[in-house]
Amino acid sequence: MSALALVKWIFALALCYHVGVARGGDDDKAKFHKPRHLQATFDPRTGEMSTIEGIRVVDFEDVLVSNAASVDAVLSASKSSGIYYLTNCGILCRLTGQTGGLEFYNSSLFNDRVRADLSVRADPGNSRGYIEEGGEAGVHKFVERKEGFEYGDDKDAGGKANKWPENAEREKMNLVFEEMQRIKNSLMELVYSDYLGEEVVGGKEGWEGGRNLDLIRLFRYIACADDEDGKSLGSSPHTDWGLLTLILQEAGGVTALQYRDEKMVWRDVPPVRGTIVVNVGDMLELLSNVRHSGPAETLTSPIHRVQHCGDGGGGRLSVVFFAYPDEGLMVPQGVIEKVGVRGEGGAYNTLLDGRERERGATFGSWLEEKWRGVKV
Ligand SMILES: *[C@@H]1O[C@H](CO)[C@@H](O)[C@H](O)[C@H]1NC(C)=O
Repeated sequence: MSALALVKWIFALALCYHVGVARGGDDDKAKFHKPRHLQATFDPRTGEMSTIEGIRVVDFEDVLVSNAASVDAVLSASKSSGIYYLTNCGILCRLTGQTGGLEFYNSSLFNDRVRADLSVRADPGNSRGYIEEGGEAGVHKFVERKEGFEYGDDKDAGGKANKWPENAEREKMNLVFEEMQRIKNSLMELVYSDYLGEEVVGGKEGWEGGRNLDLIRLFRYIACADDEDGKSLGSSPHTDWGLLTLILQEAGGVTALQYRDEKMVWRDVPPVRGTIVVNVGDMLELLSNVRHSGPAETLTSPIHRVQHCGDGGGGRLSVVFFAYPDEGLMVPQGVIEKVGVRGEGGAYNTLLDGRERERGATFGSWLEEKWRGVKV
């Protein structure tokens, strides 16, 4: 091959790659790039990416205009694995689209000044503030190699007001929080509320009423190349307790998040530039059991973990938003026995593994009990 032909070939490859990933060159949309080692599939009709590593990819802007195929894609992913990627989700997707997009969190929160400042430490249980390394473990036999920071709606000055360190990037952090709530509310309104039944989820108040419970938990997973004792984990296996969880993973960061699929196999959820990850929570799964039955119809709250120790385990930054319903929303009666068994024996940390088995309890009372069980 001549030098000129080689250059042409490389150029053509680069062009194909770019066009394939960036949806026909539509510059405003789809800023993400697919690292070469990831397996992706594309929809032949639209040229859009439809899966990454077998996980569904959905264009959030299409959901916003109630595009039927996209709404279906969210629902079918929520029923099968309970996990999917969103692209074109505005500021949040832009933050994960650029290397260092989340670094402002790292530099302003995870430094020695904050670590030494006891006034910004999170109190045990449901509270906001800085969480030191090893300060928390969902399943107590594991050591979780991470430090964290937790914050919620900044307008809520109640008993759990935010504890801002002196140099925290408060405005940016609040903007991230508001964007997370925007996506939560849109997904609930445009996709889930119809499927669950308006009355089952308590109407708009049912999800928007959770705004004071909604929480961002930001974690810096500490690099740990070895895992001699098999006990070091980023996060032990668990399900999330609320409606939905939205996750920003650092662009170019290590793959550490894994979920357990229908065949009980752990599968990777790699960071993909310009995307966020969404997973279904326990409460949404419970609510889906009121109107629907059978595993093909109900939504799945996936068991997942963060595994970054062992081979080449690097540092990692993730921003996780837990979207909760109104605390007064009833945990639906009659479905607890059906779906609440996975946490038995302390194997997994789930909403329903608690001691509270009282019928007719509200989501808020279950959540209180869960928070009492997490060591800080
Ligand atoms: C965060 O900052 C620390 C200290 O400056 C640095 O070592 C680390 O690589 C940064 N990123 C992550 C993801 O931990």
